Amino acid sequence: MRIRIWILIVLLAAPFLRASAQEIMLTQGWKLKIGDSITWAPPQYNDSGWKPANVSLPWEEQGYPKTDGFGWYRVHVVIPASLKEKAFLKDSVRFDLGYIDDGGEVYLNGKLVYKNYKNGSDIQHGFYGPCSFSVGTNDLAVHWDKENIIAVRVFDTGGNGGVYGDKFDIKMMDVMDNVSINTDGDFSYGEKSLGKSIKLKAGSSYEYAGKLNFKVTDPETDSTIYEKTNDAHFSAHSPFTYTFTIARLEKKSYKITYTFTDAKSGKQIQKTEGTPYILTPVVQAKPRINGPDVFGERPGNPFLYKIPASGQKPLVYKATGLPAGLKLDAATGIITGVMGNKADYPVIFTVSNKLGSDTKKFTIKIGDVIGLTPALGWNSWNAWGLTVNDQKVRTSANAMADKLSEHGWTYINIDDGWEAASRNANGEIVPNEKFPDMKGLTDYVHSLGLRMGIYSSPGPKTCGGYLGSWQHEDQDAKTYGDWGIDYLKYDWCSYSEVTAQNPTLEDYKKPYQVMRASLDKVHRDIMFSFCQYGMGDVWNWGTEVGGNSWRTTGDIEDTWKSLSSIGFSQDKTAGGASPGHFNDPDMLVVGKVGWGDSQHNTRLTPDEQYTHISLWSLLSAPLLIGCDMGHLDNFTLSLLTNDGVLAIDQDALGKEARQVVKKDDYQIWAKDLEGGDKAIGIFNTSDKYQTISLNANDELLKGYTKAFDVWTQKSIIGVPNKLTFKIPPHGVKLIRLL
Ligand code: GAL
Repeated sequence: MRIRIWILIVLLAAPFLRASAQEIMLTQGWKLKIGDSITWAPPQYNDSGWKPANVSLPWEEQGYPKTDGFGWYRVHVVIPASLKEKAFLKDSVRFDLGYIDDGGEVYLNGKLVYKNYKNGSDIQHGFYGPCSFSVGTNDLAVHWDKENIIAVRVFDTGGNGGVYGDKFDIKMMDVMDNVSINTDGDFSYGEKSLGKSIKLKAGSSYEYAGKLNFKVTDPETDSTIYEKTNDAHFSAHSPFTYTFTIARLEKKSYKITYTFTDAKSGKQIQKTEGTPYILTPVVQAKPRINGPDVFGERPGNPFLYKIPASGQKPLVYKATGLPAGLKLDAATGIITGVMGNKADYPVIFTVSNKLGSDTKKFTIKIGDVIGLTPALGWNSWNAWGLTVNDQKVRTSANAMADKLSEHGWTYINIDDGWEAASRNANGEIVPNEKFPDMKGLTDYVHSLGLRMGIYSSPGPKTCGGYLGSWQHEDQDAKTYGDWGIDYLKYDWCSYSEVTAQNPTLEDYKKPYQVMRASLDKVHRDIMFSFCQYGMGDVWNWGTEVGGNSWRTTGDIEDTWKSLSSIGFSQDKTAGGASPGHFNDPDMLVVGKVGWGDSQHNTRLTPDEQYTHISLWSLLSAPLLIGCDMGHLDNFTLSLLTNDGVLAIDQDALGKEARQVVKKDDYQIWAKDLEGGDKAIGIFNTSDKYQTISLNANDELLKGYTKAFDVWTQKSIIGVPNKLTFKIPPHGVKLIRLL
């Protein structure tokens, strides 16, 4: 009996015991109810009938399969006054409630204290992201030493939903919680130096004064290369800028660690980043024809292809054997026209300038299949989220035309956020005020030799809460055709609301079959990109339903965790890829990303970015740049303009790499290429430098006599003997065997 009482005391005291520490854990005790009522916010509401919720998992994984729409979570928690009494700063309390997927509002004792959408908008425009906010210590919503009720209202469309993640706690806002080390400036490249300015920024009234330590280490040896400590002071009104220039080191990434220590509180904040290093050789002044070897269009539809060629301008373009119906603009390299008959047309392109010329054999395939090689382009989502507008699209198109189209980049795709709130009197979809002239914008994109993409959902609403195409499929496909659209991303989202609770395979296919039929009525080649996160193993039936590509996963983020878990789990999808039909492991997260109106440098290290582009190319993935194209730094540009790497992605055989070696700390993926070549990616998935070898008798090397380092575009000496590579943490060696 005594023992039982003792256990009871411990259990009852558990929240207080935790609270005597610096934080209150909030991972337990949550309850969930699917549905929506504002009466579920106030503390007096009786939630005793609600089901327990596991906040480490989305609600789909705990008895609510494919649930879209509203749900509420509640938890009861005592917030002890000792928390503030022991804190160095006593201004506000910080709540971390994992991630909210998608829209969310948090009520503390009935008061709305957080929402993940903008003023003037609503919860249906809220977006998946970490839920972290603070409430003033003196705010009456906080009940010190008493029970508090936290109620979270969630609105989910498409994919997973709910409140979930690893970080659920309450603590006092710390001195460093309001400080950011902003490293979003670009590196400047001198001939032998690398420089950058970073900023220390404060978000509270506290005056920060202390030391900033700047340290460069070699991750291979862990040795320090440079170290410097400076005084630093800053406040909310005046940030501290630190500018450095270091000698440009050998071709690898070094680790920079910035550590600020505040003298008064003794607290520290630290951030690391890798120095960029460029492997892609400088583009030569002599002409060079890049891009794929094949291009497909359907007979009778408008034809548009710009010959991708680099070299000193002006370039003069020539095409020998161009079939009747097509004409080439010799000054721009843009081929237009209409082709009548299904056939393969071999053509020879020649591009010249005053330094010389280059020629390339090319095949125009007029037939039923378009998108014979994966789409190379840009999509607005990872950069701009719902803040995309006409100007941002034009900026991207200009940047693509100036810097990327010569390497084969073509598509300018508008994602969600372009649609007006209601259809016009004829039921047609119309753009909102951010896109005053969609046809004019499309014409402009075409005038640059580029193609235009758009976004919709088979459901009544898109993921961002905008109008979808449900029951207007024919009409929308016709509108896209009238505007001159070349690519449609079709995102499942609220289609869950209009299909079966537990969809069958046929239910998964249906909305894509319906839109396929609508697109087929339009006299235009519109690439059809399915976005339904891989449901029903879409890679097994995407081709049959007429998709040119299909997403195989949920949304990517600019972290190693997201990148590696998506990228390295694609082996299962490999059988689905063929010319015109590709698996899509989601868009690129290099450059400045942000999913909204503020951008940050990708959080991937330079080596992780090499892995990203290499792996996606091996996977024959559509490469859709997801960054602010108005601010392409040299390193990002070098990642996107390596013709040897792009050639692996664009290979005409259309195969996807297979995972041939999977160890705890490294993986090898291999892709068969047209003409018998093979591409191999050796990925170091560990946190340390590694030396990885391929033996001469390794199956992978059999029959090959030459190897080519794809990023540096140099021959590798050693084949057919043992090949040994030193590969940085999370980095890659990409090889082409000939
Ligand atoms: C998501 C999709 C994203 C983006 C977004 C727009 O479902 O995966 O790539 O399109 O919707 O609302």
